[in-house]
Amino acid sequence: MPEIKFYNRAPVPMEMHKVKIVQKLTLLPVKERLQKMYEAGFNTFLLHNKDIFMDMLTDSGVNAMSDNMQAAMLRADDAYAGSETFYRMQQKLEEIFGISYLLPTHQGRACEHILSQHLVKPGNCVIMNYHFTTSKAHITRLGGHVEELVKDEGLVTKSNLPFKGNIDLDKVRACIAKEGADNIAYMRLEAGTNLIGGQPISYENMKAATEIAKEHGILTVLDASLLQDNLYFIKTREDSMKDKTVAQITRMVADLFDVIYFSARKFGFARGGGILVRDETLFHEMEDYITMFEGFLTYGGMSVKEMEAMIVGFEETMDLDVISQGPQFIAHCVRELDRLGVPMVTPGGGLGAHIDAREVVSHIPAEQYPAGSLVAALYLCGGIRGMERGTLSEERNPDGTEHIASVEMVRLAFPRRVFTLSQTEYVIDRVKWLYDHRHLIGGLRFVHEPKTLRFFTGKLEPVSDWPEKLMEAYIADFGADQ
Ligand code: F0G
Repeated sequence: MPEIKFYNRAPVPMEMHKVKIVQKLTLLPVKERLQKMYEAGFNTFLLHNKDIFMDMLTDSGVNAMSDNMQAAMLRADDAYAGSETFYRMQQKLEEIFGISYLLPTHQGRACEHILSQHLVKPGNCVIMNYHFTTSKAHITRLGGHVEELVKDEGLVTKSNLPFKGNIDLDKVRACIAKEGADNIAYMRLEAGTNLIGGQPISYENMKAATEIAKEHGILTVLDASLLQDNLYFIKTREDSMKDKTVAQITRMVADLFDVIYFSARKFGFARGGGILVRDETLFHEMEDYITMFEGFLTYGGMSVKEMEAMIVGFEETMDLDVISQGPQFIAHCVRELDRLGVPMVTPGGGLGAHIDAREVVSHIPAEQYPAGSLVAALYLCGGIRGMERGTLSEERNPDGTEHIASVEMVRLAFPRRVFTLSQTEYVIDRVKWLYDHRHLIGGLRFVHEPKTLRFFTGKLEPVSDWPEKLMEAYIADFGADQ
């Protein structure tokens, strides 16, 4: 839905749904939050959900389901092999994407595991507009490397460009010339480019990039995990597409790719994943991996109840009212914080609002994880759990030095249809308070550092007693009970 007009005030984002089931939340007093932060090693992934007021870690697997999704779960056809539910899922995806071969997986990274396991050989290159943590980890594990060819302008945090996820076509051509087409395992374009702030790619750019790939016989892969947001932005920001329906746009995008995979923890608002493969031979080649790593070919590690829910979720994704909710709430949050002077990634994208931590806590050295520090401080000052998306989420260089991330952000995810506008206003208020007290925030250092995907389970400690000082300032303004 385009914004609903108001009579005598500026419009606010409008929920095109009503609440039917709720979950109680608790706001622990700030002293207890400090204790919990120490116990979690200053890593928001290690906090317990019961200790969190606003869980904005991710939109993965925590989107609200609709009444129709829940109702569909009751008709799940429980069978190890040949479940009707699978055939319904296959049919719905074929209707939406026009591809009939479906490999079901338990989640998005399982798709990445299987695709890279089959397609990436040591020394191979995978072209991307930008990497995602798990997609890159699978490729490097197999001795491949990733070339991130997003346009330079996509990495400029403050901007008004509508499609910051666009890949640089000149860089693509140069990369193919340098690597040789035979050494390129595939080109992966990520809709709603996660790590640069949920920024979309235009249809036009996807078309041009996949045309180049096809000229050179390079396989084209779409990561559609965040496609729903990207569809909204194509519909509302790409002039030539504004008269098309969401379903028409989806089909036009799908037609550009040989392979489409998705995390159904995001796409479809449930939990699971799948790989759609246009070519029959490639499909059969990858079947074995499903039975080996995921489950039988008609459930792929998913619960069939979740599969039934996601079938409805896929259908709902074709409804502009449904896919508008996330981007419109995010736009409101980004606009307000930007107005209040907080450095944000602009324009607001999908997935969440992104704070430019490099700007906010510019006094914290890159090796002390500015975004990691800021996200820990935000839990302390509001019970809000965000996610670090910066250097801490990178892996070290082979020589052991830090790989400094090109963008250093705190992500405040907006799971779809979950938070209300008043909760959003609370978040805006606490982020602004923290921004005004940013000089009190200090750095972090690792005390336990896993080698792979260290941000998930690593433990850190503050480099000084900055959390205690920050807490004192918070209590002075809000009292000890909040
Ligand atoms: N691709 C993209 C673009 C993603 O955002 C994710 C997950 C995956 C693949 C992997 O999917 O989690 O189902 O295995 N993103 C989550 C996030 C984890 O919080 O952004 P998965």
